[in-house]
Amino acid sequence: MGGAPIYGVFSNVVFAALLLFLSCSTLLALPESSRAAGGSAGQINSNSILVALLDSHYTELAELVEKALLLQTLEEAVGRHNITIFAPKNEALERDLDPDFKRFLLEPRNLKSLQTLLMFHIIPSRIDSVSWPESTESTPHSTLSDGHHLQLSREDSGEKAVDRARVIHPDALTRPDGVIHGIERLLVPQTVQDDFNNRRSLRSITAVKPEGAPEVDPRTHRLKKPAPPAKAGSPPALPIYDAMAPGPAISPAPAPGPGGPHHHFDGEAQVKDFIHTLLHYGGYNEMADILVNLTSLASEMGRLVSEGYVLTVLAPNDEAMAKLTTDQLSEPGAPEQIMYYHLIPEYQTEESMYNAVRRFGKVKYDTLRLPHKVMAQEADGSVKFGQGDGSAYLFDPDIYTDGRISVQGIDGVLFPHEEVEVKSEKKAFLPAKVVAKPRRGKLLEFTCRVLGTFGQHSRFTSCR
Ligand SMILES: *[C@@H]1O[C@H](CO)[C@@H](O)[C@H](O)[C@H]1NC(C)=O
Ligand SMILES: *[C@@H]1O[C@H](CO)[C@@H](O)[C@H](O)[C@H]1NC(C)=O
Repeated sequence: MGGAPIYGVFSNVVFAALLLFLSCSTLLALPESSRAAGGSAGQINSNSILVALLDSHYTELAELVEKALLLQTLEEAVGRHNITIFAPKNEALERDLDPDFKRFLLEPRNLKSLQTLLMFHIIPSRIDSVSWPESTESTPHSTLSDGHHLQLSREDSGEKAVDRARVIHPDALTRPDGVIHGIERLLVPQTVQDDFNNRRSLRSITAVKPEGAPEVDPRTHRLKKPAPPAKAGSPPALPIYDAMAPGPAISPAPAPGPGGPHHHFDGEAQVKDFIHTLLHYGGYNEMADILVNLTSLASEMGRLVSEGYVLTVLAPNDEAMAKLTTDQLSEPGAPEQIMYYHLIPEYQTEESMYNAVRRFGKVKYDTLRLPHKVMAQEADGSVKFGQGDGSAYLFDPDIYTDGRISVQGIDGVLFPHEEVEVKSEKKAFLPAKVVAKPRRGKLLEFTCRVLGTFGQHSRFTSCR
């Protein structure tokens, strides 16, 4: 694969961009430890009902509240008024809960549902057993979950109930700022139930089981248990950049690997398989087309996977691709550059990425477009890549995960931050995204035209 000459112009831009990048990259990676710790400057009183909850035997609930990142919100709530917490007994959250539903609640992308569900168990005022409504008619109380109400009632026997759950341990814990009542089961608001049902029916259509997916350590982004080096099928020893073909990526020429290429897997078949999955998933036709048509890129990916490397593809959806402007495609080699920037030489799933951003705030991933990295952070209970205008959300997680290739759908096309800056300086007088006229296949068309100009058709079969 040749193509070096056409990147000359580009590398000048990149060089300038790199300087810019180096000067601002120190700003990018500050961890947001305060959020992870859930603390707002130690305002909370140790005699608070929240502290009591975390210390109580309602460990399952306490754990969920922490996982849902609600401690800070609740701290603020008890700072303003008393609260009443209905705490399901542990068994209600372990043994008695539909495992699918529990999995749903714990999936990072469903954080909002989990928060809604938990806030539904809390009333923003104090209702001790003595102040419990006397009547058998139920009285609605608003909860901390917006728009959701709980019905407090009494059975004829005098037993207290909240919605359809019996209160089995009234006044289980009382503190100056609130009270906890033990209840027999989890309370599920209708909206959360609906979300779950929707997600489940979607799942059954689109599921691609992540079988044998290796566990990734979210702190290092590496496999938790690297295979012993000698074993066939183990990750290759050389960094992926050494194995990449020279070409669009601004990478050093590859050193000949010791012992030559070692073919562990049929990478080509896996690449075909994921492209196929992408096509069937729907909404990613343009990306799939590009991979089919840019045969050099697809076979490069296949080769790398064959040699034991792993890849995560951030696949922009069709809507995102349609927004690409002529301007963004005008640099020679731009389409391939764009694609390479969406390939991460690590195996990442939605879960591993979400865990990483949750814990560290901001995480930078290498891309196959050296030396550019893509920044990820937590936003709205999901993972957001890139920064500012050029950012994209993890939109369709885990479209394909086979342990070596992972495909994550995103809702934007990403550009290196520093390049965006340079471009906007250079072309400040041009409005950013006006020329965008949705049209399929624009990216590839452009590749062919640009390559045609440079007399380099041969690498792209579909340009002939
Ligand atoms: C919570 O309730 C107690 C007892 O009713 C009351 O003394 C206290 O002021 C209340 N706290 C807040 C923050 O309203
Ligand atoms: C890819 O090639 C096929 C067949 O050559 C063509 O129909 C399709 O439009 C091409 N895709 C793009 C994105 O141009």
